[in-house]
Amino acid sequence: METTLILLKPDTIERSLIGQVITRLENKWLKISWLKMMKLDDTIINKHYDFLMNKPFFPILKSYMQRTPVVAIAVTWKEAIKTVRNLTWATNPFEALPGSIRWDFGLTIDGNIIHASDSLENAQKELKRFFEWKDIFEYSKITDDVL
Ligand code: CMP
Repeated sequence: METTLILLKPDTIERSLIGQVITRLENKWLKISWLKMMKLDDTIINKHYDFLMNKPFFPILKSYMQRTPVVAIAVTWKEAIKTVRNLTWATNPFEALPGSIRWDFGLTIDGNIIHASDSLENAQKELKRFFEWKDIFEYSKITDDVL
């Protein structure tokens, strides 16, 4: 089992898409192990996107991510990282696969609805940034039986 981090970005909140995006995760049987709405302060944004700090679009990205609270979610499932990345697809919604979350709901490269960790190493770093492991919920779902 793997756990990965998802952020539902401000356009998801502003466009009343939280439920629809979470439904996509649930349809794929991903188990929500932790979920919180939160405002991202400068410290957490600078850390989360430190690899983009020198990009010309960083100030736009930062102010966009602080426009509303985000919904931070940890999901656990067999191959959760790949599963969520496949649901999410390309950064640019216009390059995403039809049927993916970003294709169906994304409007721009900033307004691309969702962030999802791209590797096990990054998932572990990103999860620690948003919550403490002791807060994670462990419970059974009927769909666990397919594993
Ligand atoms: P995300 O998966 O959260 O990771 C970095 C984010 O930077 C990305 O999604 C985009 O929303 C944002 N971004 C804005 N402009 C660009 C760009 N030109 N190239 C890549 N990412 C961008």
